[in-house]
Amino acid sequence: MNLVVGATGFLGSDICRLLIQQGQPVRALVRTTSDPAKKEALQSLGIELIVGDLKDPASLAAACQGVGAVISTASVTISRQPDDSIQAVDLDGQLNLIEAAKNAHVARFIYVSYSGNIDVDCPLKTAKRTVEQAVKESGMTYTILRPSSFMEVWLSPIVGFDAANANVTVYGAGQNKISWISLHDVAQFAVASLTNSAAQNVVLELGGPEALSPLEVIKIFEAASGKTFTVQYVPAEALQSQLDAATDPIQQSFAALMLAVTQGDEIDMTATLQSFPLRLTSVEEFARR
Ligand SMILES: NC(=O)c1ccc[n+]([C@@H]2O[C@H](COP(=O)([O-])OP(=O)(O)OC[C@H]3O[C@@H](n4cnc5c(N)ncnc54)[C@H](OP(=O)(O)O)[C@@H]3O)[C@@H](O)[C@H]2O)c1
Repeated sequence: MNLVVGATGFLGSDICRLLIQQGQPVRALVRTTSDPAKKEALQSLGIELIVGDLKDPASLAAACQGVGAVISTASVTISRQPDDSIQAVDLDGQLNLIEAAKNAHVARFIYVSYSGNIDVDCPLKTAKRTVEQAVKESGMTYTILRPSSFMEVWLSPIVGFDAANANVTVYGAGQNKISWISLHDVAQFAVASLTNSAAQNVVLELGGPEALSPLEVIKIFEAASGKTFTVQYVPAEALQSQLDAATDPIQQSFAALMLAVTQGDEIDMTATLQSFPLRLTSVEEFARR
């Protein structure tokens, strides 16, 4: 049995779908507060739902019973309830999950972190790197996935990239290259990690097929849509001031992530693709969808 934690999220739901396509059994941790439509969608795929919360260790002990592998994508960055916080969920909650998995003799643990190039200090970075270390020390066979920026999030209106209206916000000067990756490709790596021996006890930095600056990305979208985009710039200095002034850990982490985007995030996938022969989605393909 494979337990997916974060199963109602963008990435977790894609991982669930891929596992089912491969005929693998899936148990999804969902919350009483999770979107009912997302829970129904999981159930209609034949997925076993179990109610739990990363803040509730007893629920995690129950969820891990009879499980061979845990894949955890959960985070409060986008989807959170009033009592969720980075400390309680991304840090303590993920540590609760590792403990529960160890106690239930789970063999494999796959943890979705973020790119090693994202190095601006913030509560989310502390949580991600602390959990990575705990996964490594857990005694379970582990894979730590460190993806770069998801196309579906960072090239979407969520962060001001409104391609439909040809209006985008660029963080920084827009000239540093990023290895944008489709979250569907991250899902493929997560699922492949269950069986690929090259995924055992490793940290995998994950990027798309090419590193492109935000300004290059805009040109690709302009060519795909035939429209000229209006571009607003948020200077890196403004993001640094936002980070310095923020007192809420979520606001600090958002400012830090946007500041990290200004610095670029290039990941060379040549060696990784030799062990994981997956075809990666390009920004151009994404723009034409
Ligand atoms: N976006 C990017 O560019 C990017 C880049 C690199 C890495 N990542 C990482 O990729 C991962 C997946 O991202 P995503 O876009 O799929 O996130 P998402 O759509 O926001 O999904 C988050 C998931 O976490 C669950 N969750 C939140 N709090 C929880 C709690 N207390 N207990 C149990 N589950 C809880 C949510 O459940 P509910 O539905 O019940 O709220 C949801 O299923 C994250 O760890 C993120 O840091 C993202």
